[in-house]
Formats: sequence, C-alpha cells, structure tokens
Amino acid sequence: MRRPLVAGNWKMNCDKQESAALIAALKNEQLKDGVEVMVAPTFVNLAAAVDQTASSKISVAAQNMNQHASGAYTGEISGAMLKSVGVDTVILGHSERRAYFGEDEALLAEKVKAALAVGLQVIFCFGEVIEDRRAGKHFDVVAAQLKGALYDLEESAYEQIVLAYEPVWAIGTGETATPEQAQEMHAYIRSNMAARYNDNLAQNVTILYGGSVKPNNAAEIFGQPDVDGGLIGGASLKADSFTAIVNAFPV
Ligand code: 13P
Repeated sequence: MRRPLVAGNWKMNCDKQESAALIAALKNEQLKDGVEVMVAPTFVNLAAAVDQTASSKISVAAQNMNQHASGAYTGEISGAMLKSVGVDTVILGHSERRAYFGEDEALLAEKVKAALAVGLQVIFCFGEVIEDRRAGKHFDVVAAQLKGALYDLEESAYEQIVLAYEPVWAIGTGETATPEQAQEMHAYIRSNMAARYNDNLAQNVTILYGGSVKPNNAAEIFGQPDVDGGLIGGASLKADSFTAIVNAFPV
C-alpha cells in the first residue's frame, strides 16, 4: 500500500555522539502523525539507533549491505546481521554506491534478492545523470534501472519494496527537480510498473523523491499526486530541518 514516508539518509555523517544527539533531538520534535519517519545512520551506529528509537515513531534503516549471506568477505555486512540488531530496512542502489563503488544493475538485483530473503524492506534508489536528461534519455535510463535490478521479481516482492527516484543532478547540488519534473517521472515509473506487472501494483507501490529536498520545497514536491514521500540527505542532518520536511507532508 502507498504510504507517506520520509527517510533521512545520513550518508557518511554523524559519529556515535552526533548520531545519538540527532536522534534525541528528533524524539523531542512533534513529528506529524500519519507520516512514517525513518533515519539511516552509518553501520556502526545502527544498533544504538535501534535501541534509542525503540519507544518512538522513528524507525532505522541501513544504507547498504552485501549480497552474500555470510562468509569470507572482509569488511562487509550481511542482511542477516542488520536484522540481528533490529534493523528492518535497507537502502540499496543509491547513486553514490553506483558511482563510487561500481554497483550496477546485476549486483543490485542480487542485493535486493538477498535483502528480501532475510525479510528486510528495501528502499531501492535509481535516477538519471544530467547528461541523460539533457539528451532526453531519462525515461529510458530509469526504465533500464528498474528492469535490470527489479523486474525478475514476483509481484509479491513489492510488499517489501519502496522505490526512490533520485535524479543524480539534484543530489547535494541544491538544484531540485521541479515538482512537475518529479511528478512526470513518478507517473512514468507507475506506467512502467503497470506494463511489467499490473495497474494495481503500480498504483500501490510507494515512490519517494530524493534530491535537494529542503523545508522550503518539500510541501510542493510531496503535494504531487504520484510522490509518496522523500529520501532526504543534507537536510536530514539537523533535527529542525528534517522535522520541517516531515511536517510539510500534506496529510
Ligand atoms: P540531498 O538531500 O543532500 O540532495 O541528498 C539526497 C540523497 O541522496 C538522499 O539519499
């Protein structure tokens, strides 16, 4: 079912003390009822974040995981390990993972399957770079990303999947997609899902927008009919701006 969701992707920010302080500050804020709120601290702070948010409406996501179940993969973290510390969601396919760590559709397809297999919810990120948009190829790029990583899955898998459209040119740049550009792409994503699966699934999948969402533009973006929420980077690192974004949701 489509549901209003605002998630903060903290990326490689916040040490142990900063992470605890940010969560404590968020717990003091009045976060709008009816909007699901999630934060994604770095791996080393996940267990503490799960404990700290236990009696709050905030849930905790990881930013990545390995595609293997266990074994000799030095430095890596499995989905089962995330589950074992109480994490129930993982962000996969973020453009920074794609750009700096060589993650492609084939690898992401494996990661998504591994996450679903251990019962994690997946926030699957995708989106075009500026050259693709200038060349008018943004719909084709998004279609290929969805097909390559997700379209082998059965329909039932989408009970555990949230989509996050993040145009790479809007991430950390201050240049947001206009509400019309976000709506246009989100509607396209639903039509692409309907062609692969069916209308019912396409209408029910939750699709977040990410890329320079700030308190002053959140309401307009979240007000678009096919935008169900946001994946927030920079503005999620301060309790007041993240709260303002959550509370901008028109519910
Ligand atoms: P910014 O909100 O900093 O543009 O980052 C968006 C993002 O990458 C969220 O995953």
